[in-house]
Amino acid sequence: MRDLLEVKNASKSYRVKSGEVKAVDGVDLMARKGEVTVIVGPSGSGKTTLLYLIGSLERPDTGEINVFGENICRPNADLIQYRRKRVGFVFQMFNLISALTALENVVLPMDLEGISPAEQHRRAEELLQRMGIDHRLQKAKANRMSGGEKQRVAIARALANDPDVILADEPTGNLDSATGKVVVDILAGLARRDGKCVLIVTHDEGILQVADWAYQMRDGRLKGMEVRG
Ligand SMILES: Nc1ncnc2c1ncn2[C@@H]1O[C@H](COP(=O)(O)OP(=O)(O)O)[C@@H](O)[C@H]1O
Ligand SMILES: [Mg+2]
Repeated sequence: MRDLLEVKNASKSYRVKSGEVKAVDGVDLMARKGEVTVIVGPSGSGKTTLLYLIGSLERPDTGEINVFGENICRPNADLIQYRRKRVGFVFQMFNLISALTALENVVLPMDLEGISPAEQHRRAEELLQRMGIDHRLQKAKANRMSGGEKQRVAIARALANDPDVILADEPTGNLDSATGKVVVDILAGLARRDGKCVLIVTHDEGILQVADWAYQMRDGRLKGMEVRG
């Protein structure tokens, strides 16, 4: 299906001193464009690993991941293109380059795409403006910004190459609850307004409020949850 992201029976183990940890254990998941899918689970339940599998930062040991009709686990999949163009990441720690300005952080991933500098600049400004980062703040170094500002810059950066999928890993983990709500509403808007496939993993059950679909993760296993009656 063209608007379906599907994980089929995916597993991923890590070798550790004491043996092996099955971080993701036979997971099935579906997420759609235009919808917010939330995965809640405690620390260590495998949420980040699952997001890395979907973002192709890790490969599953077994199973398959289809993103809008493309199997990203097939041997000759163009993962460089996939990571740059099809997915945008939002992290708990923001992961901005602190010595660069907000604008420079958003332009950076565009550099790889060979867009003209003027166009990069214009597009970064537009994305930041949309995230409520005004012109003055766009020129501030990332390390001078508040957590909420940093996360809004990080979302603008995730959108730099207009990906179909937004993968957010504990996006409110370092924010107070009011700021976290602003960030979650922005993420939900990316699904509702822009038709992105938004996937949020979190231990914060409050985020379930914006979920169209939800799953609970525990010990590497995923199961569906009821949302909004
Ligand atoms: N690179 C790694 N090497 C070894 N073990 C890992 C690695 N990444 C995750 N794990 C283990 O896999 C399990 C799931 O981790 P993770 O996906 O980070 O969970 P969560 O994001 O829900 O906290 C944990 O037991 C963790 O210690
Ligand atoms: Mg995690």
